[in-house]
Amino acid sequence: MIKIRHAAVSEKKKIFDWYTFIISQNESKIWSVGQEYTWDEFNADFQDFYFEKSAQHKGSVMIIENGGEEIGCMCYDNNFLKPHCTELDIWMKNEECCGKGLGVSALKELITYLKTEKGIKKFLIRPSIKNIRAIKAYKKAGFTMVSDKKKTIEAYLKRPYLDKYGDGDYGFDDTAVLILE
Ligand SMILES: CC(C)(COP(=O)(O)OP(=O)(O)OC[C@H]1O[C@@H](n2cnc3c(N)ncnc32)[C@H](O)[C@@H]1OP(=O)(O)O)[C@@H](O)C(=O)NCCC(=O)NCCS
Repeated sequence: MIKIRHAAVSEKKKIFDWYTFIISQNESKIWSVGQEYTWDEFNADFQDFYFEKSAQHKGSVMIIENGGEEIGCMCYDNNFLKPHCTELDIWMKNEECCGKGLGVSALKELITYLKTEKGIKKFLIRPSIKNIRAIKAYKKAGFTMVSDKKKTIEAYLKRPYLDKYGDGDYGFDDTAVLILE
């Protein structure tokens, strides 16, 4: 059975290790091969507030557990987004935890939690266009792929952050944009 919980700051290094490990197992699908994601970059992207209870309205990292075993994590980020909007991310800790539908179940749990507890109404997720498994999983969780990426990003992101985050992690052309409303 899938359970989700907020991560503590003491779990940050473990979560970084999961990230770099799953990326190493999927490199060509997620990043350009050979691109390294450093601890410093991770710390810049996942500042301590993502692990603090007092900042859960801005965003948070969540641990996914299956039958008591930690299997991966998710993040929701409201910080750069308009009211009632959030952007999600998810990574399992290794390939053994993938391909079993667990990521989809975890996303559904997170979406229900954010709707009921945090007043979120609109969800954005932006994988690489090469990440076919992630796109399939997100569609199974209820997301739909948008055709007008620019218009969608403008509807979700606060204007001051459009330049920095508008293109997505993989560049505008190589980033797929999916929403759930
Ligand atoms: C993306 C991720 C969270 C999805 O969770 P998951 O539990 O593995 O998802 P599922 O098991 O439901 O698989 C999704 C679908 O993709 C399909 N799939 C799996 N591998 C595939 C592949 N190589 N090509 C095409 N489809 C594939 C599965 O068959 C499944 O579809 P189905 O239910 O119709 O059979 C998880 O795979 C993961 O953490 N991947 C590595 C990190 C990552 O890519 N994160 C996303 C960054 S945006």
